[in-house]
Amino acid sequence: MKTLYLKSENENTPSIAAGILKDGGTVAIPTETVYGLAANALNPEAVAKIFAAKGRPQDNPLIVHVQSLDEIPPLVEKVDERLPALAERFWPGPLTVIMKKSALVPDAVSAGLDTVAIRMPSHPAAREIIKACGFPLAAPSANASGRPSPTRAEHVKEDLDGRIDAVVDGGECEVGVESTVITLATEPPTLLRPGGVTPEELEEVLGKIEISHAVYEKLAEGEKAHSPGMKYKHYAPKAQVTLIKGSFERYEKFLKAHNESICAVCFEGEGKNFDEYIEYGRAKDSLIQAHNIFEVLREVDAKGYKKAFVRCPSIKGVGLAVFNRLIRSAAFRIIDLDFDIPVYGLTGQTGAGKSIVGEELAKYGFCIIDTDSLARKAVESPEVLSALKDAFGEDIVFDGKLDRALLASRAFASDENTKILNSATHPEITRLTVEEIHAAEKSGAKAAVIDAPVLFESPLTCLCRKIICVTADEEARLERIMLRDGISREKALERIKAQRSEEYYVSKSDIIIRNSDIDDTRDKTVKIAREELL
Ligand code: TXA
Ligand code: MG
Repeated sequence: MKTLYLKSENENTPSIAAGILKDGGTVAIPTETVYGLAANALNPEAVAKIFAAKGRPQDNPLIVHVQSLDEIPPLVEKVDERLPALAERFWPGPLTVIMKKSALVPDAVSAGLDTVAIRMPSHPAAREIIKACGFPLAAPSANASGRPSPTRAEHVKEDLDGRIDAVVDGGECEVGVESTVITLATEPPTLLRPGGVTPEELEEVLGKIEISHAVYEKLAEGEKAHSPGMKYKHYAPKAQVTLIKGSFERYEKFLKAHNESICAVCFEGEGKNFDEYIEYGRAKDSLIQAHNIFEVLREVDAKGYKKAFVRCPSIKGVGLAVFNRLIRSAAFRIIDLDFDIPVYGLTGQTGAGKSIVGEELAKYGFCIIDTDSLARKAVESPEVLSALKDAFGEDIVFDGKLDRALLASRAFASDENTKILNSATHPEITRLTVEEIHAAEKSGAKAAVIDAPVLFESPLTCLCRKIICVTADEEARLERIMLRDGISREKALERIKAQRSEEYYVSKSDIIIRNSDIDDTRDKTVKIAREELL
């Protein structure tokens, strides 16, 4: 279909848009939060077109938009007695209220739930169009499902051109993130999605409210979502997004430790420290960040970046809404670089005796983090798995299980492929490693040790105060590998040859332990542990 583009300031736009909507069509309209893709909320066939155009999962209900309070009683079982106070304070504006629905609301809108979400937008164009229609409008954000929500008519065009009947261009949306969603169907009321109206403001009217834990974190496997929209990866650009918490110094160091192109999505004034960056507002200004965030996520793609590391916003006030959107765009990958215990790296060629050194350090209160096992865990994460399937073929997953041998044969077939594997897995391995550092700190460990055979290829080096490298004669290494893994001399030699040289390891390390005798190695390690913990 050909999409018609209308300007909100044209006098006859509301009547043209209303005409399309009355005929059961779909029109993207501006609101003060984000652009919405509207259809007649009381017409299931029209509503079905919204789901089709967006590619939206059928179990994700829509918000019903009204422009006056008298439109509400027919839509609900009973008007909640707290609604007038909420309406008085926040409507028209960025608040959505959920109540038990009436039979008038089609199942297509509520996605089979017994509740309905209602909002009264303040944008004059939205209000005029609803008024001209004479019926309420169901309208989700006007993006393709999963993509960042649109805050300009051009964003709608990018995602939905040719899939919807019309777009009303009303300029840039003021708030920039979607409305706050609160349900009055629970006691106390529960905040399901943070937005332009903050939890504190809601409590001034409602008293104590719950905040659904899905606002901050991923739902547990199999857990039912109060708000179906909260269970999906969402708001995501094509680029891989990771949220980074902690000071600017650590953020900068961490980004610069990567030897691939990364876009720094940072606060105003910080971008000059990076080659590639986009700033998303002042560090302390959540309103500006909310206004900019979706546009910035789209810009990451427009500029062709494959990876973005985003500075974590404050979660105070409207900041909670910014955090909520970012953590979803990052598929919940957040790396918190804010820890106080010292971190060491432990590396060396295979068979050199790293594990003996690790054992000894553990006795002195060093927490050993085994990155090999974290790497195995990382490839099981749904996000990483889907990136790997895209890169190496759907058949690497068979019967829901990763075929590690097949993945290895493809991923290590060329340097280029290995790079792709690393790029897909490193952020998750790093996240898991940093999680372990925090756990070590919590449990009272004196230091954390990142035990990694390929430490130097990873940005984790930047977290290390010192790097300890264990070396041993090739003959001794050969014997150990054969014994440990039960393989032939030729196979063991092959593994050794596939690794970097001893000089490479030594030149990049701070402390070298030459392992020629077990007892001597233990003694040396004890000495190092004592010195480091002084
Ligand atoms: O600001 C906004 O709210 C924008 C503009 C266009 O009004 N709309 C919007 O709609 O963000 P949408 O569909 O992208 O998000 C609606 C959210 C989803 O997370 C959905 O699951 C939730 O509201 N929702 C809708 N009806 C619900 C219900 N009955 N119970 C629980 N959650 C509901
Ligand atoms: Mg949406």
